[in-house]
Amino acid sequence: MLEIFKEICLDRNSAAPLYQQLFEILREMIENGRLLHDTRLPSIREFARLLGVNQVTVVTAFRHLEENGFANSRSGSGTYVAGLLQRLPAKAENPLLQDELYPQAENSFMQNDQILINENTINFASATPTSDLFPVDNFKIVLNEVLDRDKGNAFSYHESQGFLPLRESITGLIAKDRLDFSVEDINIISGAQQGIDIIAKALIHPGDCIMTESPTYTGAVAVFKSRNAQLVDVAMQPGGPDMNLLEYTVKKYRPKFMYTIPSFQNPTSYSYTNEKRKALLGLADRYDFFIVEDDYVSDLDFDHQGYLPLKALDARGRVILIKSFSKLFMPGLRLGFMVVPPQLSQDLLTAKHTTDISTSGLVQRAFDLYIRKGYWNSHFDFMYKIYKTRYEKMTDALDKYLPSTCSCIKPGGGLNIWISLPAGFHVTNLLHMAAASDIAFAPGTIFHTGNTPDAANNLRLSFAAVQTDKIEAGLEKLCSLIGRLSSTIYPSSNTPVF
Ligand SMILES: Cc1ncc(COP(=O)(O)O)c(C=O)c1O
Repeated sequence: MLEIFKEICLDRNSAAPLYQQLFEILREMIENGRLLHDTRLPSIREFARLLGVNQVTVVTAFRHLEENGFANSRSGSGTYVAGLLQRLPAKAENPLLQDELYPQAENSFMQNDQILINENTINFASATPTSDLFPVDNFKIVLNEVLDRDKGNAFSYHESQGFLPLRESITGLIAKDRLDFSVEDINIISGAQQGIDIIAKALIHPGDCIMTESPTYTGAVAVFKSRNAQLVDVAMQPGGPDMNLLEYTVKKYRPKFMYTIPSFQNPTSYSYTNEKRKALLGLADRYDFFIVEDDYVSDLDFDHQGYLPLKALDARGRVILIKSFSKLFMPGLRLGFMVVPPQLSQDLLTAKHTTDISTSGLVQRAFDLYIRKGYWNSHFDFMYKIYKTRYEKMTDALDKYLPSTCSCIKPGGGLNIWISLPAGFHVTNLLHMAAASDIAFAPGTIFHTGNTPDAANNLRLSFAAVQTDKIEAGLEKLCSLIGRLSSTIYPSSNTPVF
């Protein structure tokens, strides 16, 4: 029997019945993490003897634990502490699977133990802006103007490549990133996810090898798997993957393309140095593969590191750049674009056409006007300031509260911070305890494609969906839970070996 049960002391002089006292003590131990998920409680006979009470007292306390979702009895085996998420559905309103974590549904952890959020949740799990930040008023102005100006034309089929004036506006937007392209090079897509899907549809034949970083964006992995691609990965590191290892992997597997998120990568927020960007392009040339560059937040460069898009360095037409507007604008609008090398242009257009013919004409026309009226630039400045403030709050709070057994690298931009936890740390238990305190985060495991050994020991903290004034309190609480759980692995608080 665990020592912890020997600490339990019931008060025979109290007005509260003994079973009630036992229930409350065990409930508290479970809620504050002293009794972890799946811990076996002592048998009824053992417990009754230990506490000097009637067995009925223990049976009744266990029944209350079960009725309140704190424990499960397993026939022939005993009573076990339940995962705290099992009692959350009653108050949860929106399962987190509404956003980018969704494609990992085959991960049994996500399927059976969905992270649930409610209106009180401090949500460090979602890397998507909340709807209070959406520029609804200005978008209404441009929508109305488009309807008055274009009438029914706004609702006809549009070119698969995209509404020409919008492509023109986009060439202007990207010029500041040293991306000097013409309307012929731009394809409008219904979100970056569709871009990944179209590329996979056009380029992957069953059995083709696709290379990714690990960990990486789950939505891309799901697409490549759906095309029966063989996936290989290289470990993502601060500054970008080890290029020798990357070259070795390319030589061995000869990928059709590499899917990469070179700036503020999802989930790690690490970025390739400019040297590694050039080296990657060199390898693409030498070993004849394409690069799919997913740029979902490179503009959020708070420390002005000035990373160059791979596409800006792409002299030989190796790179397909995908750019999303979801993290800065309104994700439900479903809008993004690709910059496509000429030799892939026709194949990608055919794939787009067979997917949805064209992205909504009304949305494209409205967004074009939104850019032309200067609303985009001011909205970008507004979002940049908010995210920068949140980023600074996050890093300040982590400096203050993150236990010394953990580490993180300040990425200087993006929307996520990747925390490394000590070896042996149970992220699942933390997830349960945090959920009970109305805090959500994304466990690192869901982003791993398979080969990286430290898969269980990271978590991704996003700040896109957390109100600025909730960040410090949320991280203080989360870090104290991390500290408490770490002390169950390293009770003597010796520094662990990573
Ligand atoms: C790295 C990355 N790429 C693409 C997407 C999908 O973006 P969109 O909403 O533009 O389809 C996401 C969404 O979270 C993402 O994190």
